[in-house]
Amino acid sequence: MRLQVSTWPEVEDYLKKSTGVIVPIGSTEQHGPTGLVGTDAIAAEEIAWEAGKRANILIAPTFNVGSAQHHMAFPGTMTLRPSTMIAALSDWVLSLAHHGFTRIYFINGHGGNTAPIATAFADIYARRSLDSTSERFRMMQRNWYELPDVEKLDAELYPVGGGSHVTAGEVSVTFAAYPEKEDTRELDPKIAPTGVITDKHHYREQFPDGRIGSDPSQSRAEHGRRLIDVAADNLASEAKAFFAS
Ligand code: NI
Repeated sequence: MRLQVSTWPEVEDYLKKSTGVIVPIGSTEQHGPTGLVGTDAIAAEEIAWEAGKRANILIAPTFNVGSAQHHMAFPGTMTLRPSTMIAALSDWVLSLAHHGFTRIYFINGHGGNTAPIATAFADIYARRSLDSTSERFRMMQRNWYELPDVEKLDAELYPVGGGSHVTAGEVSVTFAAYPEKEDTRELDPKIAPTGVITDKHHYREQFPDGRIGSDPSQSRAEHGRRLIDVAADNLASEAKAFFAS
């Protein structure tokens, strides 16, 4: 069940049965010459939507611009400053909490988001703990690519060149969602270099085509369907356990 395509009476009915919600969160940033700019947001929402269908869980809108300053030397990238992102996340969460949601599960598709999300949680918990009328309430974040069956399948599919940015797995998930965008051409070098990132200049000097450690010519829509299947399964069971906690 997706919030964006529900009516308010449907949300009211849902809240009588469950006060848990999943928020997909990603980024709008370059994903190499063959990957989509929306990869991190698309992967998180595809997996969340599938889990929502399977387990009848409400899925909030996708928080689809994240913390991506290091990708700004590539056209199309958009970023929030960490301070803006923390403020926006706090307002998203407090809006949901206002209606009675007490368990908020962020399924994340972008490593650069994890620190701002954690800081937003600290800010929200502080506000609620300072408010004498607030009730029990919890949030969690999880990177979809670290779900146990995803890690297993990813290692099976891509023993070499899985990578850490523009990963073969995340690109496959977007090809499953948008098969007309499947692009399997080989890039040069076949496997991208690895290294440390600071700002946008440093990033582009080290990783001229945008990839880090990956070979996305291995990505296939068919792999993406399998990754979405196991990820949705893991996410649905983790979210249900979290909502019941
Ligand atoms: Ni990504």
